[in-house]
Amino acid sequence: MSVGSAAQPAAGAKAAGDGSRLFLFYQSPVGKKAVMAVTGLIGFGFVIGHMLGNLQIFLGPEVMNAYGMKLHETPPLLYGARTVLLGAVALHIIAALQLIKMNSDARPTKYAKVSPVTSSYASRTMWWSGPILGFFIVYHLLHFTLGAAHPNFLYQDAARHIPAPYENVVAGFSNPLVSLFYIIAMILLMLHINHGAWSLFQSLGLNHPRYTPLIRTVARTASYALLIGNCAIPLAVLAGVVK
Ligand code: HEM
Repeated sequence: MSVGSAAQPAAGAKAAGDGSRLFLFYQSPVGKKAVMAVTGLIGFGFVIGHMLGNLQIFLGPEVMNAYGMKLHETPPLLYGARTVLLGAVALHIIAALQLIKMNSDARPTKYAKVSPVTSSYASRTMWWSGPILGFFIVYHLLHFTLGAAHPNFLYQDAARHIPAPYENVVAGFSNPLVSLFYIIAMILLMLHINHGAWSLFQSLGLNHPRYTPLIRTVARTASYALLIGNCAIPLAVLAGVVK
C-alpha cells in the first residue's frame, strides 16, 4: 500500500509541512507576538489561580496548608503545571528578546524622543517591568518554593519536602522591605498585564468593534483585582491581621 501520493501526501509529510509553516510563521514579528500572546495568557491564567489559592491565607493555617499539601500530593498536577508554566515563561522571554533585536535591527537611528502620544506609560514601562518581574519570579521561587532566600523556611512534612505555606508567607512578609518589594512587583505586574492585553489585540490585528473593548475591560479589571488581592496579603501580615 502506498503511504502517500502527489494528490494525497503522507501524514508524516503533512506534519513536516505544518511544522515548517509554523517555524516560518514564528520567524515573522507577528509569529513572535502570537507566541508572546499565548504564553502571556498562560501566565495570566496561572497568576489568577495562584492568587485565589493564596487568598486562602485569610481562612487560617489549616486551610492554606491543606491546600499546599494537596498540590504537592498531586504530582501530575504540580509537575504538569510547572512544566507548562516554565515553558511559557521561557518562550515569552525568548520571543520578547528576539522582538527587541528585530526592532533595533530595523531602526537605522535611535528615536530622538519618545512620543507620549503613541506610547502609553504602560507600554514604555513594558520593557523594564518585564525584566524586573523576571527577577521577582526568581527571588519568589527562592523565597517561598525552595526556601533559600527565606530566613525561617518551614516544612509541614520535612520527610517529603512539603513546605508550610502559611507560616512561610507570614514570616516572609513580616519583613517590611520584603513586603515593599512584593507590592512594587504587583504594581508592575498590573501594568504589564494591562498593556499586554492592549498589545495582544493591537499587534495581532484582532480588533472587533464590540468584543475587543469588552475583553480589554475584563483584562483591566482582572489586573486591578490581582493587584488588590495580592497586595492584601503582605499588608494584612504587616498590619497583624494575619499572624
Ligand atoms: C502576595 C503574592 C504572592 C504570594 C503570597 C505567593 C505565595 C507563594 C507560595 C507560598 C508559593 C509556594 C507554594 C508551595 O510550594 O507550597 C508560591 C509559589 C510560586 N509562585 Fe507565588 N505568591 C505570590 C505572587 C506570585 C506572583 C505574582 C507570581 C508570578 C508572577 C508567582 C509565581 C509563583 C510560582 C511560579 C511559584 C512556583 C509554583 C510551583 O511550586 O510550581 N507568585 N507562591
